[in-house]
Amino acid sequence: MIDGFGRNIHYLRFSITPNCDLHCRYCKSKDRFQKDSLSADDIFKITKAASSLGIDKVRLTGGEPLLRADIIEIISKIKTLEGIEEICLTTNGQRLFDLARDLKEAGVDRVNISLDTLDPLRYKKLTGGDLERVLKGIERARVYFETIKLNVVYLNGITDKEVADLITFCKDRDLILRFIELMPIGEALKYKDLSKDPESDLLGHDIIKTDRVDGVSTMYKTADGQNIGLIRAMSHSFCKDCDRIRITADGKLKTCLFADKEYDLLGKDEKAIMEIIKAGIGVKPLSKETVVLTKRSMDQIGG
Ligand code: 5AD
Repeated sequence: MIDGFGRNIHYLRFSITPNCDLHCRYCKSKDRFQKDSLSADDIFKITKAASSLGIDKVRLTGGEPLLRADIIEIISKIKTLEGIEEICLTTNGQRLFDLARDLKEAGVDRVNISLDTLDPLRYKKLTGGDLERVLKGIERARVYFETIKLNVVYLNGITDKEVADLITFCKDRDLILRFIELMPIGEALKYKDLSKDPESDLLGHDIIKTDRVDGVSTMYKTADGQNIGLIRAMSHSFCKDCDRIRITADGKLKTCLFADKEYDLLGKDEKAIMEIIKAGIGVKPLSKETVVLTKRSMDQIGG
């Protein structure tokens, strides 16, 4: 569907649970385990309504989407929708070892794995999780998935020390490396100082900027030709090319990640959901500079 500013909105990012088995400092707002608001049928209904309005790509995210016991059912259902050409998943990788094969068979096309550090102690400190489990998950995912992206949230003063190691890690495993500028929203407002445009650090590592853009990533290259994506959500605006909407874990439509404006879809039937999405896209904000900022954290919105 074309929005009020001529943008083709075709990408849905769906946070299917607020729960996560990690607690990355900048992301998680609540430590308590919550009951999921949306059933597999709710998720299917909302995705179906969105697909009849021109959504052709869905990303399941969270929280940690693989914490849902019905994750395979959710994916299999979405896979039956003719209009959905691509199902992607963003995961912390902790449960990928066990699930990679079933996810592939159910219909996941691509996975993004969040991994901010290769240092086991730093990983433990930042996330509370076990680095070894992610590494095993990555190896398993490589058996089943052709395209795997590694998402690294770039933390000022911390990530720079690991840039070279991360590049080698991804090169050896044929992963696409992406550095994400920390967005100081919700919980991450406390970590404003860690938000930095990584470009100057990268240039210091003999990495050059190319004129290629891949979705929201500006592409850079190492001297030996390895591609690196940079998602500069704060220092650069890519709102004019925004092609997405989001559904929060509690069933609210968000037409802008940064905006506090939300539209409740919970308990509505498919026709009503379509009308709300249509109206929402019709008034999707032009840019993050024009909105009242959300108070929510990424675990609720969906990273
Ligand atoms: N800024 C940027 N990225 C974030 N993520 C979570 N919170 C933030 C934030 N404040 C990322 C995760 C993961 C994806 C789900 O979103 O690290 O890569």
